[in-house]
Amino acid sequence: MKRVYLVGFMGSGKSAIGKRLGTLLDLPFYDMDTEIATRTGMTIPQIFETYGEEGFREMETEFLRNFSDEFCIIATGGGVAMRAENRKIMRMTGLVFYLNSTFRDIWRRISTDINRPIVQRSSRHELERLFHNRKPLYLQCAHFKVETTNRTLSEITQYIASQITRLKN
Ligand code: S3P
Repeated sequence: MKRVYLVGFMGSGKSAIGKRLGTLLDLPFYDMDTEIATRTGMTIPQIFETYGEEGFREMETEFLRNFSDEFCIIATGGGVAMRAENRKIMRMTGLVFYLNSTFRDIWRRISTDINRPIVQRSSRHELERLFHNRKPLYLQCAHFKVETTNRTLSEITQYIASQITRLKN
């Protein structure tokens, strides 16, 4: 097995869990947003402002196409699973875990975040609609659906780690 991808809506815990998984399994951890920001030397809001959302989406696909083939954990951005090509690359190059959360929990975590342009430009109602529209696509590319409601980060991490360990050979 090569890459382990965490997919899900903004605020579903992809980065927090990815970091813990990396430590627990002693694997490198990459956060796609951070990688893209480092490569461009810009923040995510600056990228959206300069290149538009479409420009940012291209960078996400480029990252998936060209990233090194290594056994690692990757926290994807919340919009990555929306492109068919991205879903295909993820399923073919690794194991995909979808972190399923309720919109209520998500809203609590992201509503005041100024670093997420989609949150900045959307009302609560619009975000909830986006959440429901995206869900089938996360499910489409996932090998595993992971419930996060009423579970601690450590419990979720342990569960995913056990699946990776079981399947890695
Ligand atoms: C986005 C999610 C963000 C980031 C960008 C767009 C989205 O990542 O890639 O702001 O479209 O859902 P997180 O899911 O890590 O917040």
